[in-house]
Amino acid sequence: MNEHTSQKIFPTTQLEDADGDGHNTSINPTMGEIIGKRFSRRNFLQGSLAVSAIAATVSPVALMSADEARAQDKSGSAFKFTEVEAGVDASHHVADGYDADILLRWGDAVLPGAPKFDPTKQTADAQSKQFGYNNDYVGYIPLEGSSEHGLLVVNHEYTNPHLMFPGLVKVVDGKIKQGALSKEQVDVEMAAHGGTIVEIRKAGGKWQVVTDGKYNRRITANTPMEITGPAAGNDRLKTNVDATGTRAIGTINNCAGGVTPWGTYIMAEENFHGYFSGKLPEGHKEAANYKRYGVPEGSYEWANFYDRYDLAKEPNEPNRFGWIVEVDVMDPASTPKKRTALGRTKHEGAESIVAKNGKVVFYLGDDERFDYVYKFVTEGTFKPNDRAANMNLLDNGTLYVAKFNEDGTMQWLPMVHGQGPLTAANGFNSQADVLIECRRAGDVLGATKMDRPEDVQPNGVNGKVYVMLTNNTRRKADQVNAANPRAENAFGHIIEIAENDGDFTATSGKWEVLLKCGDPSVAAVGATFSTETTKNGWFGMPDNCAVDSAGRLWVSTDGNNNKATGRTDGLWAVDTEGEARATSKLFFRVPVGAEMCGPLFTPDDQTAFVAVQHPADGGEDWSGHGRPSYYEDLSTRWPDFKPDMPVRPAVVAITKVGGGKIAV
Ligand code: FEO
Ligand code: CA
Ligand code: CA
Repeated sequence: MNEHTSQKIFPTTQLEDADGDGHNTSINPTMGEIIGKRFSRRNFLQGSLAVSAIAATVSPVALMSADEARAQDKSGSAFKFTEVEAGVDASHHVADGYDADILLRWGDAVLPGAPKFDPTKQTADAQSKQFGYNNDYVGYIPLEGSSEHGLLVVNHEYTNPHLMFPGLVKVVDGKIKQGALSKEQVDVEMAAHGGTIVEIRKAGGKWQVVTDGKYNRRITANTPMEITGPAAGNDRLKTNVDATGTRAIGTINNCAGGVTPWGTYIMAEENFHGYFSGKLPEGHKEAANYKRYGVPEGSYEWANFYDRYDLAKEPNEPNRFGWIVEVDVMDPASTPKKRTALGRTKHEGAESIVAKNGKVVFYLGDDERFDYVYKFVTEGTFKPNDRAANMNLLDNGTLYVAKFNEDGTMQWLPMVHGQGPLTAANGFNSQADVLIECRRAGDVLGATKMDRPEDVQPNGVNGKVYVMLTNNTRRKADQVNAANPRAENAFGHIIEIAENDGDFTATSGKWEVLLKCGDPSVAAVGATFSTETTKNGWFGMPDNCAVDSAGRLWVSTDGNNNKATGRTDGLWAVDTEGEARATSKLFFRVPVGAEMCGPLFTPDDQTAFVAVQHPADGGEDWSGHGRPSYYEDLSTRWPDFKPDMPVRPAVVAITKVGGGKIAV
């Protein structure tokens, strides 16, 4: 979700400052005592780790291909392609020699009986059978191990009513005004949230949607969910509708996510605070808890029609959101589970890897200014040939929060009730309290306040972990530390973690800044792209990322759509190894107003799926439009470019012309 959009004109669209209200007022970590000492530890990882941690799951062929590419490129880059020119216009652009085909658009049929998309007559019933709005996370779950036939799982993070509903925005006395949503429009919004599970198949080199696939499913803000794990059934999760504290209705603001090693789909609940309105009863015991999460924010109008979003009527409801949701994609009738063991935050995503000892490690970012990086280590071990045995691994394990030290070391601090400060003396009466107030638990443990942690991605090939820190313009000079080294950090940075002994379950490790982002030609920005990086290759605001099967890092961005960058968001290939380290090249860019989500590579590295989110949300800064963008006056009608069709968020499948691995 992007904060550089037209929120000031369309306040209910998405959450102003949604990804970072900066609710962390705790006094721990960063303040004054740690003034950023910037010193290079560039070489600390060289040596045994990079070799010893190569995962058995990666084929030697894939590794060889990346090495070959590196050898062929005079800069030593592992990526072989001619980069796209950065800029802004109405369409998407991919590197020469690649096709970027629209696979799924908002409103496309994904369930039998879905009516043809008609934006002028959209209904909640139709929407609940069609692809939802604002695709964010994209995952691929192979069927029978295939890279050409599988399930695409896609999150629908939020809705842009000013782009979705004809007639909602009106010009009155020369001023643009967005009207109130009707109940039917709110119902459409709720049905456009959640996720899509849809079978896809590649035939003749082109991906197609199997609209009658037996696993196809829409999950929405009204899908019944089960709450599981240590906080399930806790009094703080009980409502008038659910006296058990275990049955939630729906999932919202599903940003990034993950696919587990056992093939389930993870939907991370991020900015849940925006959906709640109303006033908490005077003196209510959740007041401080909600303040820490910015609840209620009231961007959405759902509380006008549904009591569960009104704090005055259902004061405990916000405690039932902000969780990691797991979906069994092989059973379309299954009840998705909110796994409380992974804590309640504004979860960006949950990417995972099987550690050497068979435990599964999930890395999690809490996307808010000054909030934390987490990881969860399962108590049980992954059984590759026993899917059923893995299905509740997420209910038992240890959640940790990250502390980044000045000397390049780090600790993962266990968030276990009764240990350290997580006791009744500090208001934590159970593990449920620790998980429900996960942020406050991080505060008292002394975790490091970060610059908006987004995607956190383990790399099974080189054994490292990449942390996208998208920006934090509110960090003051006396708040910088080595892991967040820039005050007024407008462009973000990327941290690389090496867990001790290459063991993803380790409770300590080392870290360094891989990249400080922004325009390297402007000295004051302090960006650290390599000198091989061209004027097209730099980026700001890293958000999502992917590691392909050769272990190469791909970074997608959110927030480049403004005058300061002169470019849209996109997908960049970032070298992490050897002389080319910190070299970046632009592979794909999005149309005006959009943010780049996904990305995801099929196991054979021959397809990259990317999600173009909120295209046409903005356009004031682009000379091709130069004014607010809304349904009747859009800055782009991507991807259809038909006068009777609005802009539509869509998933794009990128393949090499004639076939083959991408960027090799
Ligand atoms: Fe939904 Fe943190 O981006
Ligand atoms: Ca994101
Ligand atoms: Ca990712």
